[in-house]
Amino acid sequence: MHDSKDFNVPANPYGSDVEAVLISEEQIAARIQEMADAVSERYRDSGDLILVCVLKGAVFFLSDFARALSIPSQQEFMAVSSYGNAASSSGVVRILKDLDRDIEGKHVLIVEDIIDSGLTLSWLIRNLEGRRPASLEVVSLLRKPEVVKADIDLLEVGFDIPHEFVVGYGLDYAENYRDLPFVGTLKPEIYAD
Ligand code: IMP
Ligand code: MG
Repeated sequence: MHDSKDFNVPANPYGSDVEAVLISEEQIAARIQEMADAVSERYRDSGDLILVCVLKGAVFFLSDFARALSIPSQQEFMAVSSYGNAASSSGVVRILKDLDRDIEGKHVLIVEDIIDSGLTLSWLIRNLEGRRPASLEVVSLLRKPEVVKADIDLLEVGFDIPHEFVVGYGLDYAENYRDLPFVGTLKPEIYAD
């Protein structure tokens, strides 16, 4: 069961569950370095930079991104949950874990794994703006086409991907697959039950 026969899919803990690799480990690493270089340049002279990671999906990206920066950063974590229908984001959000620190007067960069509808992120931006940071920007590793409706300005985007469900590099299906080193799609039968 856990030996992939598709030579395009690297050996991985979930083996044949994975249908295809959309973005390889090498592509992710190269793009993160480019994004980190641009961000380092922008904040080089601005003092403390606080990276805000939204749990859990963005943890893997945050970890690699922070280490690719050539300027210092501090890391903060937030956990939020959307009310209502879990299948699609409602934009109504509850804070499960808040930041440990005050961000007033600080330069804050939200680090996101993926933006789909952008509703959760729009809410988060409004919430953090209310705490009066010196600046507030967003970087996201992935972006789906839906987000154009939400009209969110992103400082950097790793990859624009099609409207398709993806897993890996932090993204889960029912809490599995986050630990895949690449971003890929699952076989349809995985969703079948
Ligand atoms: P939205 O932008 O408010 O619609 O929701 C974004 C959140 O939905 C992300 O932070 C992910 O947790 C989740 N999500 C959206 N698309 C995917 C996907 O393709 N795979 C896994 N999670 C996804
Ligand atoms: Mg997320």
